[in-house]
Amino acid sequence: MAADTEEMINLIAPVLRIRLGGNERYPVVRFVEATDRDAVALSISQSMDETAVIEAAAKVLGSESGIETVHVEGIGAFEIDPVDEKSQGRVAGRVMIVTGAAQGFGLGIAQDLAKEGACVVLADINIDEAEKQAEALRKEYGSNRAKAVSMNVTDQASIQSAISETVKAFGGFDGFISNAGVVKAESVKTQPAKDFDFVTEVNYRGYFLCTQAASQILALQHKVCGDYSSDIIQINSKSGLVGSNRNGAYAGSKFGGIGLTQSFALELIEDGIKVNSICPGNFFDGPLWSDPDNGLFAQYLESGKIPGAKTIEDVKRAYESKVPMGRGCTTPDVMKAIYYLIEQKYETGQALPVSGGQVMLN
Ligand SMILES: NC(=O)c1ccc[n+]([C@@H]2O[C@H](COP(=O)([O-])OP(=O)(O)OC[C@H]3O[C@@H](n4cnc5c(N)ncnc54)[C@H](O)[C@@H]3O)[C@@H](O)[C@H]2O)c1
Repeated sequence: MAADTEEMINLIAPVLRIRLGGNERYPVVRFVEATDRDAVALSISQSMDETAVIEAAAKVLGSESGIETVHVEGIGAFEIDPVDEKSQGRVAGRVMIVTGAAQGFGLGIAQDLAKEGACVVLADINIDEAEKQAEALRKEYGSNRAKAVSMNVTDQASIQSAISETVKAFGGFDGFISNAGVVKAESVKTQPAKDFDFVTEVNYRGYFLCTQAASQILALQHKVCGDYSSDIIQINSKSGLVGSNRNGAYAGSKFGGIGLTQSFALELIEDGIKVNSICPGNFFDGPLWSDPDNGLFAQYLESGKIPGAKTIEDVKRAYESKVPMGRGCTTPDVMKAIYYLIEQKYETGQALPVSGGQVMLN
């Protein structure tokens, strides 16, 4: 598809979607090159800017109700699946992109958002696993409720293409969960610079690139309706709030992420975008810690990091004892923070700990 056609779809679909929705619920607007449905014609030329497209759409959509499809000469058709008014979910009628959603926290977040009524986009560098998980969600909730997209958060073109795919499938999105993250824990005395760069590239620069691309669509949607607001939520870490011994690359990237969150929040509020971070404690039950071969518990047992520990369970207990609440963080703990940030319309730029009391703000 020509780049300018793609740009036009990225402009037209979000305008239609927000114009046809309301009360925080929006229809799915799906781009197709040709359609059998009866269509309303919308006249758009390539030279029109955002304001002109918004005005043209308002004229056409304001004069008819129950529109199923909009046809734009030279571009294609936009099929509309109306809002399911019966759905009671906390994010029903919304589209949410989750990066790093093939496994771990990201997968759990995408699954819970789908359970609560959202259409979810599982964006991951591991597209095979993301596709498998998206298929499971489609089976459970319906064919237009989940999509996997290939995305490398360190690559601008890859992010842009994933966002365009999302817009073609759903018409836009209302939340972007910047979750993809990596860790390479090592002493500052020995860590190769390339490992430091790798962690910084994904956790810090990746968050900047994702916010830059996502905010274009979210800002356009706010331009369609001044009451419309959206969320960018970064999954940070308790290591973004306190230093982490022999893990400086990771903690530094996460501290930096909070600086980005605060700064983006100040700037993007004019576009109706709230930007917040969540700082979870250790997710001991996730693959990062519990993978029997490569998980951190297995690595720490092997390296003798916990004196006297003879089994993986011994290492796990040692880590759990560092948490005042005596256990690791779970996806349901993180979800409560995500729904709070989405539903709370009077807060932005925050770093919200979910650490069982292990980190306390001052
Ligand atoms: N696991 C924990 O204890 C813990 C604690 C606090 C915060 N976090 C944060 O939560 C987030 C998720 O962690 P997790 O433990 O679930 O990780 P994980 O390693 O289980 O999963 C990370 C996912 O991100 C994907 N990914 C990696 N690099 C990518 C890239 N460049 N582009 C797109 N996708 C990429 C991977 O394919 C994988 O599916 C991270 O930001 C992490 O820092 C984790």
